[in-house]
Amino acid sequence: QPQVIETVSDLRAVVRDWRSQGLSVAMVPTMGALHDGHVSLMRIALERADRCVVSIFVNPTQFAPTEDLDKYPRQLAADLERLAHAGVQLAFTPTAAEMYPHGFAAKIAIGGPSAGLETDFRPTFFDGVATVVAKLFLQALPDCAIFGEKDYQQLCVVKKLCRDLDIPVEVIGAPTVRDAQGLAMSSRNAYLSPAELAVGRQLNTILRHAASALQLGADPGETLETARLHILEAGFGRVDYVEARESDTLAPWRRDRAGRILAAAWLGTTRLIDNIEVTGI
Ligand code: PAJ
Repeated sequence: QPQVIETVSDLRAVVRDWRSQGLSVAMVPTMGALHDGHVSLMRIALERADRCVVSIFVNPTQFAPTEDLDKYPRQLAADLERLAHAGVQLAFTPTAAEMYPHGFAAKIAIGGPSAGLETDFRPTFFDGVATVVAKLFLQALPDCAIFGEKDYQQLCVVKKLCRDLDIPVEVIGAPTVRDAQGLAMSSRNAYLSPAELAVGRQLNTILRHAASALQLGADPGETLETARLHILEAGFGRVDYVEARESDTLAPWRRDRAGRILAAAWLGTTRLIDNIEVTGI
């Protein structure tokens, strides 16, 4: 069973103890409701480092007032089972008051890869993510941290955060874990009805077709417009974006560069995101 701690001072004490034994430390930040996607990050963490700390914290500062903070799934007992199974040594489960004590007044504003895509629809999201991730990194001081490519823009933003603020944590991206039909695993999939799940499963197929069309030289504007139409025809209610970007900087994609198609679309009241690689030609 992992050790479970709730305070920053306990976290620092455990990590200090590990350090005194010469052990390396990897961190996997999460919001809980853990699934196989999260577990894959823990596996990579434990291949990279001697010890793994998983934080479980539903971070209020990255939710807009209209979003699902209150109904976000919380299931600590089941999550701890998964950590035990993965061999994770430490769970950090701070309260909101521990992370944001009364009067908390700091915020990290991050630009660069945060421009557009998610930010067009969730304007304060990445400042919330950057602030909480900076706090978690400064609290645990891990050697490395693992983030999923599922949230590709977030991965780019966290890398940029560490580079620009000289935070000495190596940020490692991990491949998206999907179900047998290609749906990217997400804690929010729990909100989907069986009918919505069937629609959701088509998103990845549509993006894969668009990626191969681009790789074969198709026109980007037309290809992405077709993908948008296919997403709507599949049964999604609204498409927030389908865009091709350069994989490192998230600048607009150029054909000679490695790229990524990123998409966000709504199924009822649930918003799904996914992305796929486009190799440069
Ligand atoms: P959460 O959505 O819980 O995701 C935690 C980590 O798991 C992220 O790095 C995410 O990209 C990764 N992940 C989620 N689904 C995945 C999948 N199907 N395959 C691979 N990795 C997957 O992302 C957050 O929490 C928060 O924004 C956080 C970074 C913890 C800051 O609050």
